[in-house]
Amino acid sequence: MNKIETQAWVLCDGQKSEAWETLFKKETISFDDISETEILVEPLFGGWEANMSHALDRKPLDLCRKRRESKVVLGNSGIVRVLKTGKKVTRIKEGDLCVFFAISHLNRNGCLDTYFAFGYDEPGSVGLLAKQTKVREEQLYLIPENSKVPLHQWSIISLRYITAWSNWKVAKGCLEIVLSRKECPSPHVFGWGGGVALGELLLAKEQGFKTAMIASTDERLEYIKNLGIMPIDRRRFPDLNYDLEKLKLDASYRKKYIASLKIFRDIVNEVTEQEGVSIFIDNIGLPVYSATLRVLGSPAIISTSGWKEGMNLDTIRALECLDRHIHVFTHAGRLSEGEEAIAHAEENNWLPQDNYPIYDWEDIPQLIHDYSDGKISSYYPTFQVNPI
Ligand SMILES: NC(=O)c1ccc[n+]([C@@H]2O[C@H](COP(=O)([O-])OP(=O)(O)OC[C@H]3O[C@@H](n4cnc5c(N)ncnc54)[C@H](OP(=O)(O)O)[C@@H]3O)[C@@H](O)[C@H]2O)c1
Repeated sequence: MNKIETQAWVLCDGQKSEAWETLFKKETISFDDISETEILVEPLFGGWEANMSHALDRKPLDLCRKRRESKVVLGNSGIVRVLKTGKKVTRIKEGDLCVFFAISHLNRNGCLDTYFAFGYDEPGSVGLLAKQTKVREEQLYLIPENSKVPLHQWSIISLRYITAWSNWKVAKGCLEIVLSRKECPSPHVFGWGGGVALGELLLAKEQGFKTAMIASTDERLEYIKNLGIMPIDRRRFPDLNYDLEKLKLDASYRKKYIASLKIFRDIVNEVTEQEGVSIFIDNIGLPVYSATLRVLGSPAIISTSGWKEGMNLDTIRALECLDRHIHVFTHAGRLSEGEEAIAHAEENNWLPQDNYPIYDWEDIPQLIHDYSDGKISSYYPTFQVNPI
C-alpha cells in the first residue's frame, strides 16, 4: 500500500518526569494511503482544546502508553479541506470544507460507544496537528455554502460548541421536567469559566434565561459583559479551592476557604434574589463542586461535560435527593446534535463574537505556553495548519 508522508507536531513517549517541551516535536510522519471508505484531508484551522494540554501533561492519561505507540499526533477539533475520497464515500467530495467531529465509534443511538477519541486515545489516529490526515465520512459535517460564519470560527463549533449544544439540550430538558416556565418564567443559569460553558450560556440567554458567568481576568469579564451575560469576578473569592484533607487538618486553609465560600454564596444570593441557581454549568470539577451544589436552588440542575481540575467527587446523596438536584453528564455530542449545532450557529449567529488570536503552525509551542500560563484571554485558542 502507498504511504502518505506529511509534517506533524508529534508527542513522543517519555518518562513521567520529562517536560512536554522535550517530547513535543515537529517531524515528518507517514501513514497508509486511504482505503475505499476513508478521506484524505488537510486541516486548515484547529482549536487548542484542554484535552491536548492534559495529553502533554500526560495526566490523567499517558497516551503513548495507552495506545502502545511511540508517537501520537494530537488534535480533535478543527476544520479541514477534502483532498481525496475513497471509492465508497458518497456524501463528501474533493474540495469540500468541513467541520471535523472527533468520533471514533458510535453505538446505535448515535452516542460515543467507547472511550476512544480520534486524535487523542484512538490507536493509530493522526490528529489535526498534521498537515494531512485521513478520516471517515461520519467525522465530517459540510460547512454550509456561502456561510456567514468566518471560516476559522467553525473550529470552535467542532468540539466546544457541539459539546455545549448537547449538554445544554439535556440540562434544559431536565429543568423543564421539574419546573415549568409558568412557575419560574426566567430561571438563573450560571457557568464556571471555559468555552463550552460560554456556548451554553449564549444558548440560555437566547432562550430567555437570566445568565451569569464566572471569570478571573478583566479582559474576560469585560468580554462576558459585552455579550449580555452578567460577569462575576472569581478574584473576589480567591480561596474557593476545595480540598477535603486540608479542610480537616489545616485551620488557616479552612478559615480562608469558608470566608471565600461565604462571599461566593452572598454574591449568588444577591444575583438570584435568594432563589438559587436553576442550572449551573460546571466543567471544572473538584475545586468548585461542593460550592456549586450549595448555591443551587431546588429543584435545580448541575450540568457537566468536563473535569478540568478533578473528576473524583464526593456527593451526599441524601442532600441531593432532598434538594431535588439533577446531575447531568454528557460527552461531546450525538451525531445528529452536531448537525443541529452547525445549523443553529449558521442561522442564529451562535458564535462567541471574539477576536481571538490565531497562532501560526510554527508558533504552536508558544500557543501551548500561553494557554497554560493563562496569557490567552480568549476561551478559543486557535492555530492554523495550512493556508486557506
Ligand atoms: N466531554 C467533552 O466532550 C468535552 C468537550 C470539550 C471540553 N471538555 C472539557 O471541559 C473542560 C472545560 O473545557 P473548556 O474548553 O470549556 O474550557 P478551558 O479552555 O479548559 O477553560 C476553562 C476555564 O476554567 C477556568 N478555571 C480554571 N481553573 C479553575 C478553578 N480552579 N476554578 C474555577 N475556574 C477555573 C478558567 O477561567 P477563569 O480563570 O477566567 O475563571 C478557564 O478559562 C475541560 O476539562 C475540557 O477537557 C470536554
